[in-house]
Amino acid sequence: MTKAYAPGKLMLMGEHAVLYGTPCLVAAVDKYLGVIVERRDDGQVHIDAPDSPGGDVTFLSEALKVGCEALRIKHTGLWVKTISQLSGLGLGSSAACTVATIRALAAEFQKPINERQLFDLSYQSVLRVQKIGSGFDVAASTYGGVLSYTNQGKIISPLTLAEPLALVVGFSGEKASTVSLVEMVKQKYEQYPDKVQRIMQAIGVLVNQAAPELEEGNFEAFGKFMNFNHEYLRDLGVSNQPLEAMILRAKEAGAWGAKISGAGGGDCVIAIGPKEKHADILHALEQAGGKAFVVGVSDKGAGVEV
Ligand code: PMV
Repeated sequence: MTKAYAPGKLMLMGEHAVLYGTPCLVAAVDKYLGVIVERRDDGQVHIDAPDSPGGDVTFLSEALKVGCEALRIKHTGLWVKTISQLSGLGLGSSAACTVATIRALAAEFQKPINERQLFDLSYQSVLRVQKIGSGFDVAASTYGGVLSYTNQGKIISPLTLAEPLALVVGFSGEKASTVSLVEMVKQKYEQYPDKVQRIMQAIGVLVNQAAPELEEGNFEAFGKFMNFNHEYLRDLGVSNQPLEAMILRAKEAGAWGAKISGAGGGDCVIAIGPKEKHADILHALEQAGGKAFVVGVSDKGAGVEV
């Protein structure tokens, strides 16, 4: 029996634009999804994923298929169980589940796998289910830490932070469809290519300017860049009233910066602010209708529990 785990993620800056060629900044968070793999001898694959929404185990099943094929694993049956701290919070449980499943399979069947191979297999597996996606979530779950990332993992570059980063998260309670929001932005791009291209480029510039502030622990300056980034996301049409309400309240409560994290249309907002204001920001996010909590960065990526 083997247990592997992978951290969840939050997009710090650069969502949507990453699909148009600019870098994004992503953090692995200190909440995890664990996958236990045990061998059986009855030829059955039994999946026990109590936290998966609606019992949907598509990502896990695909990860088993891709992992077994690529790592040449021949089994006589498997029992697979997930234990999640990520479910339903917009923290990237599908990617974390994929990465942890392939990591657990490799360890259980003693197949050596490095981080790049784990990323590539997991990304391939996620794309088979979701068809689109930059893979930033897979990278965060694989490598951990804070990463500068470009589409399809062409560049995955870890940032070294001088100070620990804490993010205040407000979950809207609404599950967003990443695929339909990406599609909506694509339609906008087809309709107004110059305008949308300019927005994506401007987001890319912000990401490049913000990264050194993050590394140096200038979180106030980084927060201001987050605010500018959010204005562009609003222009793209991916924000909505509940998300705007949370962002406004968080800033009123003392956040330096607040923005959507991810595709928008639901899921999460993130806020960054002085530690002594965290309680006020949490309260403000709850007042605006969100479920609020604080997360830190997970320095570790996917691993095996011994
Ligand atoms: O909503 P999430 O957390 O899946 O983030 C989507 C981010 C996008 O840039 C819109 C898509 C992507 O795969 O990068």
